[in-house]
Amino acid sequence: MYNKIEEAGKFLRDKIGDVSLDFAIILGSGLGKLQHEIEAEHSIAYEEIPHFPKTTVAGHTGRLIVGQLEGKKVMLMSGRFHYYEGYNMQEVTFPVRVFHYLQIPNLIVSNASGGVHRSFKVGDVMVITDHINFFPEHPLRGANDDKLGPRFPDMSVAYDKEFIQIMNQVAKDQKIRLQHGVYFGLQGPTFETPAEYGMVRTLGADAVGMSTVPEVIVARHQGMRVAAISVITDLGGPEIAFPVSHEEVLNAAKVAMPNVIKIVRGLVQKV
Ligand code: HPA
Repeated sequence: MYNKIEEAGKFLRDKIGDVSLDFAIILGSGLGKLQHEIEAEHSIAYEEIPHFPKTTVAGHTGRLIVGQLEGKKVMLMSGRFHYYEGYNMQEVTFPVRVFHYLQIPNLIVSNASGGVHRSFKVGDVMVITDHINFFPEHPLRGANDDKLGPRFPDMSVAYDKEFIQIMNQVAKDQKIRLQHGVYFGLQGPTFETPAEYGMVRTLGADAVGMSTVPEVIVARHQGMRVAAISVITDLGGPEIAFPVSHEEVLNAAKVAMPNVIKIVRGLVQKV
């Protein structure tokens, strides 16, 4: 795998030149608007990049955008790879391997998720403080490459405490209602049944979604610092039995977008 990472990394290095990058950002469902906040210097289609997984959604090529945000250099993934699309975990997390190869020290991940905490409302923004990995496949399964990270990575502090503090301060300054919670990663693509939302709550999580956990595990394997933000796009629990739709998720994400942008901007500026 290292050779593939190296080829993709060298290709990107050639394109973007010898700049040092401060942040990698992965955008979640309905959160694409954030990419327009970046003063783009390069926009590279995934299909150009050696060994990058091919996107499955027709007419929707993902792109890596490199540019300035709050005076920092960022590399942003517009379009991510979900496990439910059929990629294996090495494919889902390949971009994060390449970010590390490019010596990007920090990762910001965003997603849409279903809230199971009783005080959450649709449109809330939640800082992820921890996660529970319930994906059926682990991204670090198989032979470990010590060049990438240790065999048994510590996960006691997966989400950087200083980043969380900064996001709290930004939310306070800008009067954004900010939730904190544990994210539960499931493979999807079905939304959860009321009983499953109940299970997620009983097992100690506050929100559930179909992404993020694999990328965060791989980022931590490589020692990257991670911040993750979830938009609560729908609510679930055994007491709630109304349907969830993809449209509803996208709409709620759109409504919460200005707050997500403020928090990401604030974090990038202050680190
Ligand atoms: N469950 C899983 N994934 C999601 C949800 C949900 O309720 N909402 C947005 N992504």
